Amino acid sequence: MPHLDTEILHADMKFSADSAITPSIPFTATFVARDAQEFAEMASTPQHSRYYTRYGNPLHERIGHLVARLEGAESGLCFSSGMGGIAASILSQVKAGDHVVAQNNHYMATSKIMTELLPRFGVQTTLVDQTDVSAFAAAMQPNTRLIHLETPANPTMALTDLAGVCALAKAAQALVSCDNTFASPINQKPMSFGVDIVMHSATKYLSGHHDITAGVVVASKALCEQIWHTAITLGATQSPFDAWLLLRSLRTLPIRVRQHNATALSVATFLEGHPGIERVFYPGLPSHPQFDLARKQMTGFGGVMSVWVRGDYARTTAFVSRLNLFRHAVSLGGVESLAVHAAAMWAGTMNDAQMQQAQIQPNAVRLSIGLEAAEDLQDDLSQALA
Ligand SMILES: Cc1ncc(COP(=O)(O)O)c(C=O)c1O
Repeated sequence: MPHLDTEILHADMKFSADSAITPSIPFTATFVARDAQEFAEMASTPQHSRYYTRYGNPLHERIGHLVARLEGAESGLCFSSGMGGIAASILSQVKAGDHVVAQNNHYMATSKIMTELLPRFGVQTTLVDQTDVSAFAAAMQPNTRLIHLETPANPTMALTDLAGVCALAKAAQALVSCDNTFASPINQKPMSFGVDIVMHSATKYLSGHHDITAGVVVASKALCEQIWHTAITLGATQSPFDAWLLLRSLRTLPIRVRQHNATALSVATFLEGHPGIERVFYPGLPSHPQFDLARKQMTGFGGVMSVWVRGDYARTTAFVSRLNLFRHAVSLGGVESLAVHAAAMWAGTMNDAQMQQAQIQPNAVRLSIGLEAAEDLQDDLSQALA
């Protein structure tokens, strides 16, 4: 089999309808059938790529195929946002009376699915410390249908032992889903540890340019079909233009992620030695509390890190405000470096107790390392910490 760097450029060509090397943008809501028989087939085939755009389009098919190849899955689906994919996937697998185990730390909107949305519909949830496999084991119930993971987690950079959790899930016949946004499939392949459904906010590394919101979910063909049936009723459809941009960006995913990895490791090492920084949380540093696990299940460590500025909330605000190259903005995984003051970001949606539970310190800053030169980023950080 060719290397993944090669596959990402060519593996979808079999879906091409013409000889153009780049696909055209299918700006259409609907597709014409040649005859009644074809219409019946289009209407009854799950994930048909040429029936109605909410059901799929030719670019969704190509993207789904490529991300599935990268993750080692059979099939893939596209969404208008990461949350569109995460919500559709989880809702497709649970019903009233089921139980879901998830982590104390997740991307905020995922936490809300667990703490607010699912309980409203009679699905019970238990949140556990993701760093402790025995906490997952202790939370399992006879009606546990799904374990939902996110590793590294936003924004703490804590990791979940994928092999450990998958082993106990299999024994209990529960499914495991994993948000692989922070690592990207270049750095971590959750399915190789037994995960059943992998989700991405493709807004981040997969698209990589801070220009679209998008989601991709990959799984077995059977699970994708189930998720697709829920997805078309929820309607988080990825637009044709966003799909075109996403497909274009996927071509450079491996090379971008390798550069993000290298620059982030260099910046993390630099910050760890800086007197203005109290702590750095980056899975590629030996000081990360789960460095051994990171080396076991990741092949690179990504471009995101959390740092604790030496000082209080005001000092941290001043540091973020003084940065020039790092833009003061939410999101991550794109070509421009971004910085956010975590406590300020979550203040509107979490109370103090929730922030404490999610381990969000007043002096925590999340950095997403872009594709600028490492030395320039370090100079910017130095002047902002001075
Ligand atoms: C880990 C993770 N998952 C999911 C999401 C949600 O993605 P989107 O904003 O594309 O819906 C985010 C957004 O920041 C995220 O960081």
